[in-house]
Order: sequence, then C-alpha cells, then structure tokens
Amino acid sequence: MIKKYSFMLSIAAIAFINCISIEKTVAQSTPSLKETFQKDFLIGTAMNARQIEEKDSAADRLIKQQFNAVTPENCMKAEIIEPSWNNFNFDLADKLVAFAAKNNIKVNAHNLIWHSQLPAFMHYMQSADSVKQYFEHHITTVASRYDDKVYSWDVVNEALNEDGTLRNSIFLQKLGPDYIVEAFRLAQKSSPHSKLYYNDYNIEQPKKRAGAIALIKKIQAAGVRINGVGIQGHWRYDNVPMADIEESIKEFSALGIEVMFTELDLSVLKNPWDNNIADVSAASKADSTMNPYKNGLPDSVAQKQAKAYADLFAVFLKYKNNVTRVTFWGVNDGQYWLNDWPIHGRTNYPLLFDRYFQPKPAFDSVIATKQ
Ligand code: XIL
Repeated sequence: MIKKYSFMLSIAAIAFINCISIEKTVAQSTPSLKETFQKDFLIGTAMNARQIEEKDSAADRLIKQQFNAVTPENCMKAEIIEPSWNNFNFDLADKLVAFAAKNNIKVNAHNLIWHSQLPAFMHYMQSADSVKQYFEHHITTVASRYDDKVYSWDVVNEALNEDGTLRNSIFLQKLGPDYIVEAFRLAQKSSPHSKLYYNDYNIEQPKKRAGAIALIKKIQAAGVRINGVGIQGHWRYDNVPMADIEESIKEFSALGIEVMFTELDLSVLKNPWDNNIADVSAASKADSTMNPYKNGLPDSVAQKQAKAYADLFAVFLKYKNNVTRVTFWGVNDGQYWLNDWPIHGRTNYPLLFDRYFQPKPAFDSVIATKQ
C-alpha cells in the first residue's frame, strides 16, 4: 500500500516537473510584457469592440498573455455610452469590465469629458443650462455605475491648446474655465474608489506642459482629488522628444501625482502637417511618399523603431517610482487607428506586434531593457 502510494506520488511529481518545464519553454519563447515589468509599472493596451466581445481569438490570447491593464478604445466615449440624451448604452462597457475582472486586468476608463466623439445632440445645444445639465448628469451616471469596477478614469481628455491655454470647446464656452475642476469634483463624488486622471497629447512639450501643470495645481488648490496625469505618447519613431519626456516626468511627479504613458505608439508614417499640408485628403491622393510601406516594413526602419522604443523604456524604468502605467494604443499593427487617421487606408506599423500577432524587433528591444 505504501509502495503504491509513493509510486503515485512520484508519477505526480514527474507530471508536476514536466508541467513546470513546459510552462518555462512557453515563457522563454515569448516573454510577457506584464511579467517583465511587473515590479515597475502596469502594461496596458487599448481594446476595440471585437476584442471586448472576444471575437478575435488571436488578440484575445495576446491580451491575456501580455497586458495587465486595458483602456477601452471607444466604447466608454460619450457618443457611444450616451448616444442620445439620457439614453445610455452600457453594453460594451459592461462586457469590458467583466472581461477585465475575469482576467485580473485593471480598467482605465476613457473618458468622461472630451470635446471629441460627443453625441450628435450636443452639437445642437445652445443654452449654458442644457450643457450644465448634460455635463453633471453624464459624469454622475457613468462614473457612479463603474465606481469599484474600474481602476481609474480619464476624467478630462485633451482640454488644452498647444500654447497651454484652454481649448475652445463647448464646455469652455458654456461653462467657463472652471469646468475642469468641476468635472473632477463630480467624478470624485460619483466614483470615490477609482483614481482620477487628466489625459492629453503633446503635454510633454514645454508650453502645453506648463498649461497642464497650471491646470493640475488649480484642481489641487480647490481641494479636489487628482491622482495622475496621462501623456498620450503618439510620436514618430524618428522624432521621439526624449528630453521633454524626461523633464515632464520630473515636473509632473513634483506635483505629487502619478505619471502615465497612456496611448503609446511610434508611427512610421509622415503626417500631412509635417509637410505643412493642410488638406489631409488631397495629401493622401497626391503623394505616394505618404504611404511608403504598403508592402512591408523595411528591416532598417523596424530596427530604428526598436531602438526608439528601447530608449523610451529606459527612461520609463529610470523613473519607475513615478511612472505607474504604460499603455499601447492597440494590440497589433493591423487593427490600428493610425492606418486610417489622419489619412484613410495607409499601412502603418506603430506597435510591438505585427499584423500576424508576432513580436517585432521593437518587442524584443523593450523586453531587453530589463535584461
Ligand atoms: C481614437 C480611436 O483609436 C479611434 O478608433 C477613433 O475613431 C478616434 O479616437 N486621443 C484619444 C483617443 O484620447 O481616444 C483617440 O482614439 C486617439 C487620440
């Protein structure tokens, strides 16, 4: 009897050891971003509707393997979550929250107040009273529904101009410059358990950064909670503003808040405004240099992009006590918004995984920053 028992034990031990070694081979062949940077910061991705509905099995596998934070690419934006006045559609957002809970992933909800992707009815709103009513009702309804369910909120998105002044949005026009503090105040009340962030692009640039700092100080001076700032990080692979990024981490951290990189991508394509071309559609038709890699990304470009990503992650690691999350704006190059914006139908390669969900040189170089 004892013999039989110890025989069974040794079978179990062999199976267990085998199991470990199989696991190890998988882990060694494809390292995981979230595990690699586990002690440093969260690693996130944006999720689109198909991914949230788990209709894309390759993306699904990669998301679960690589990321421990997600941001909805669109489904929590006002035009989707409140398509008509006081008519809310929480379907996808609820699915996202359930998916994240099941897979031990943190949700950064994006976003409560933004001038873009507003529901159509907002464009006809004339009176300040109606805007105020919408503003309070939208924030309160959405934020309170997901309190406890999401880790954090981008409370206000892209409120600044490039010179650091406030963008002339419908909220500024109708509610005045204090609307941002008010948005945070309402979010704090409705969602006391989630972290509250301000999110914007180009706020690593000195003038816009100064505007963001003034904004954050104003929120803090009002006694309202703000936990962090998100630098979106839509940059070009050959023009990453490294010095400004480092300076921004230092200056934002000095305010006592978290710093995050929230929509990271390193595009390999030119934007129309790089050539001072204002007419986006004309640029796409006329100039083939605007879409040079439709048949594949040359290795020389892939290597330079890998180097740029490695340089960036080296800075993130240097400030790992201040940088709390790095989120990529998508899972792989193929499904990516930059294939269609600002010019429709291009072939871009801004992320760490290619169109076949395979790791690119940029993935290896990012992982190598920890080796
Ligand atoms: C983009 C989405 O990726 C697109 O699918 C959508 O058509 C437009 O918005 N800054 C933001 C994001 O804060 O919400 C934007 O996402 C990209 C720029």
